[in-house]
Amino acid sequence: MKKYFVIGNPIDHSLSPKLHNHWFKVNKIDAIYKKKKIDENDLKTIISELREKKINGINVTVPFKKIVIPYLDKLSLEAEQTQSVNTIILNNDNLVGHNTDIAGFTKAIKNLNFNIKGKKILILGAGGVVPSIIFALNKMNVSKIIISNRTKKKAEDLKLQFHNLEVLDWGTISDFDVIINATSLGLNKEIINLDFSKSGNNKLFYDVIYNPAETNFLKEGKRLGNKTENGKLMFIYQAFEAFKLWHGIEPQINSETLETINND
Ligand code: ATR
Repeated sequence: MKKYFVIGNPIDHSLSPKLHNHWFKVNKIDAIYKKKKIDENDLKTIISELREKKINGINVTVPFKKIVIPYLDKLSLEAEQTQSVNTIILNNDNLVGHNTDIAGFTKAIKNLNFNIKGKKILILGAGGVVPSIIFALNKMNVSKIIISNRTKKKAEDLKLQFHNLEVLDWGTISDFDVIINATSLGLNKEIINLDFSKSGNNKLFYDVIYNPAETNFLKEGKRLGNKTENGKLMFIYQAFEAFKLWHGIEPQINSETLETINND
């Protein structure tokens, strides 16, 4: 039986095992996928188990997407350019790091009836998934990306990687067509202390969080007359891409898939 893991810390919230195990069942793949909470000093051991084929694939989540890179032999172009790895595969004895968050976000946006090309984007947060979102937005030819993070230095560091960013002080709002919550605020029902009431309507409020399905950020966006979307499809599509890399199969995404990860 093949073995797969998602590693992170914290990891309790991860719905990746439910989704991958569901796809194993419907595709009749003899494998199991589990979550594993690790510390940074466990990374070396778990990665060596992949090299020794005791494990067949690893998904990486916060806070290890960048720290894992020195343990790998090769990176895909997207992983290299974002310095962010969420999927690892052993390919011809090389440990290869991939980034499927980019395709996940891109497919989720394309699935909406919303043309993002030429739009002004405001990103809240500068954590693990943000480089992938910026990379994807640049590829989709948005006109401007503004980033605001409580710890301003982290937003400024991202500007070294992505020169076209504009950095905004936390607590203020700029003009935007699309606003993305990439902070962890909302995971535990917290409210983002920002006033969106003067931002107009018919914008897109996008939250990377998918559990709960509707954060206060999305509720507020909806109340003010905007389109809203949570991170569920992004999550499903990043898993879809990882599944394809590991098994060479495109898993099905249908109502049963959505039902599998309904956790509210
Ligand atoms: P990491 O920062 O380890 O990559 P993450 O979950 O990907 O973890 O990111 C958490 C994001 O939520 C960060 O942008 C964080 O802001 P800081 O960089 O200032 O920590 C943001 N965040 C978490 N709690 C917050 C709060 N109470 N107010 C504002 N932003 C918060």
